[in-house]
Amino acid sequence: MVKSNCALSPEAWTIETERLLLRPFTLDDATAVAALANNRNLSERTLYLPHPYTEQSAIDWIATHADNFRNDERYEFAITDRETGTVYGAIGLSHNKIHRKGSLGYWIGEPYWGNGYATEAALALVHWAFSVRGFHKVYASHFDFNQASGRVMQKIGMNLVGTLVDNLYKDGKYITEQLYEIVHSNTK
Ligand SMILES: CC(C)(COP(=O)(O)OP(=O)(O)OC[C@H]1O[C@@H](n2cnc3c(N)ncnc32)[C@H](O)[C@@H]1OP(=O)(O)O)[C@@H](O)C(=O)NCCC(=O)NCCS
Repeated sequence: MVKSNCALSPEAWTIETERLLLRPFTLDDATAVAALANNRNLSERTLYLPHPYTEQSAIDWIATHADNFRNDERYEFAITDRETGTVYGAIGLSHNKIHRKGSLGYWIGEPYWGNGYATEAALALVHWAFSVRGFHKVYASHFDFNQASGRVMQKIGMNLVGTLVDNLYKDGKYITEQLYEIVHSNTK
C-alpha cells in the first residue's frame, strides 16, 4: 500500500510504503548522505555521483531540491526507514511536463543493499508519478554491468526498450546502457 500527502507545500510531500517513508531531503541529511554516497561502488554505477563525495557535495546537491520541487522539474526524495528515520538512499524523478514523462534514478547505501528497498521505493514513486502527478510514462536506464539496477526495473514492471551501445563516456571508457520504460496504461 502506498500513501502520499501532497496537499501541503512540496517541503512536506511524503510517500509512505510498508517499510519506508520517502520525504524531501533537508540540509540536516548532508552528513548521512555523504557517509553513504562517498563510495566507489555507487559512483561507478551512476552518472552524477562524484568521488570523493564530501559533505559539501551533499549540501550543494540538497540545496537544489526545493526549487526543482516548486518548479515541478524534478522530485528528489530521501529513502528512509518509516520507523527509525534511518536514511537508506535517494530516489529522484525528472518531470517533462510537455510530454508527461520523466526519468527515474536511485541509489541505496551499500550497507543496505539487498533488502528490497530500491524496489519498494521505485514502485511507490512510479505509482505516485502516475496517480498524483499525472505522468504518462516513466523511463530509466542502467549501465549494462549493473544487473542489480536492471532487476529493480524489471521487478517494478518496466519493460526493456533496448540497448544503447556506447551511450556514455565515463572515466575514459564507453558505457553501454539498457533502457527501460513503463507506460501508465500498462500498470496493473
Ligand atoms: C541498484 C541498487 C539501487 C539496488 O538497490 P537494492 O535496495 O539492493 O535493490 P533491491 O533489493 O530492491 O533489488 C535488487 C535486486 O538485484 C538483484 N541483484 C543484486 N546484485 C545482482 C547482480 N550482481 N546481478 C544480478 N542481480 C543482482 C537482487 O538479487 C535483487 O533481485 P531479486 O529480488 O530478484 O533477488 C543498489 O545496488 C545501488 O544503489 N547501487 C549503486 C547505485 C546504482 O546502481 N543506482 C542505479 C543506477 S541506474
